[in-house]
Amino acid sequence: MTTARRVLDRCAALTAYSASPDHLERTYLTPQHAAANTAVAGWMRDAGLDTETDAAGNLWGRRAPEPPGTDGARQEPGTRGVPALVLGSHLDTVPDAGAFDGMLGVVLAIAVAERLRDVALPFALEVVGFWDEEGARFGTALMGSKAVAGQWDAAWWDRPDADGVTVREAFERFGLAPDRIGEAARHPEDLVGYLEAHIEQGPRLEAADLPLGYVTSIAGARRFVLTLTGEARHAGGTPYERRKDALAAASEVVLAAERLAREAGALATVGDIGVEPGAVNVIPGRARLTLDVRAVDDAARDALVAAIEAAGRELGARRGVAFEIAETHSAPSAVCSDRLSHAIADGIRAARSGEHTPDVPGLWSPAGHDAMAMAAVTEVGMLFVRCHDGISHHPAESVREDDVAVALDAFEAAVFAVARG
Ligand code: GLV
Ligand code: MN
Ligand code: MN
Ligand code: MN
Repeated sequence: MTTARRVLDRCAALTAYSASPDHLERTYLTPQHAAANTAVAGWMRDAGLDTETDAAGNLWGRRAPEPPGTDGARQEPGTRGVPALVLGSHLDTVPDAGAFDGMLGVVLAIAVAERLRDVALPFALEVVGFWDEEGARFGTALMGSKAVAGQWDAAWWDRPDADGVTVREAFERFGLAPDRIGEAARHPEDLVGYLEAHIEQGPRLEAADLPLGYVTSIAGARRFVLTLTGEARHAGGTPYERRKDALAAASEVVLAAERLAREAGALATVGDIGVEPGAVNVIPGRARLTLDVRAVDDAARDALVAAIEAAGRELGARRGVAFEIAETHSAPSAVCSDRLSHAIADGIRAARSGEHTPDVPGLWSPAGHDAMAMAAVTEVGMLFVRCHDGISHHPAESVREDDVAVALDAFEAAVFAVARG
């Protein structure tokens, strides 16, 4: 079996660790998290890595360098010795997910570590499977990689999931000690950098007929809950001039957000909406909407948030509906470092050297990644792999085996490029 085939088979195998038998859903600090960590740890050990679950539930596989002439005496990585180059991505998913968003990057990193097993490198090599990149359970995101970047937010402890279980309770049920969260943090001096491979989650590589690209920068999303409060009343007895219809106002806000984002060349999405009391013959008294806002840079994103907020207040006021906005997540956009972007681009060129002057595009990532959290503590670089039809956050996610094969070669060559300095 080719290594690329095995990478695809492992991504398929991970779909078994799901909260539901008929779709893939694997969220932070659940039994599926523990089971997936166990399965992936086995693959890490097969690749010659020592494994550890950190204080935030992230899974690590580590090897230390065996510098020539040291008789194979291994040095401890991280704080205890030589700095580490970290390869990885995330193991959690959105609800009704595909098999590759996150998992491809972890499994591919393990395969590269296995290839490099007997190769001396001037740094420690580590592989990480982060948790909660998607934020599907507690409504924030990147909790695992933010813990590693030393950016755990104490306000998260009391956040509840949909069943009212708080982050603190979930930690304890999972067997993690909340008061040890600080131990997950890594320090800049212990790290050489962080490299992440990920499916593109968009259509640009496929449109350009290219298997791979490198990432220039990653958009930082801001996320909100919007609450519109009007008045629930009889659907038959209330004339229009007496209505304060929260859902009608919310509908205008959804369309205003889309229009304002398009005008700004940015992205705003209402992904979820709930209405109270929720009956066929009652005018909605309250509507709650999620809002996700992204742009090429943080200033453009923040300006769009301000414009949507102003529109929401005005549209609500016209209908007698109160508009409130509460932020649930914010990440600064991250720029991939020149050094690691060059290493990834060199890796792509090396992997495609049989071709005449391979085209190596640098792409902006509107999707968020663990790399943006890691950028707070070390340099980051990302490799994008073409995915069919640009579809992601959907069970139809797919990648080509020949693309995975060239991605493996490119990622391995990128590690060598970092080693050359
Ligand atoms: C992560 O998938 C995101 O929402 O960008
Ligand atoms: Mn995702
Ligand atoms: Mn992802
Ligand atoms: Mn009645």
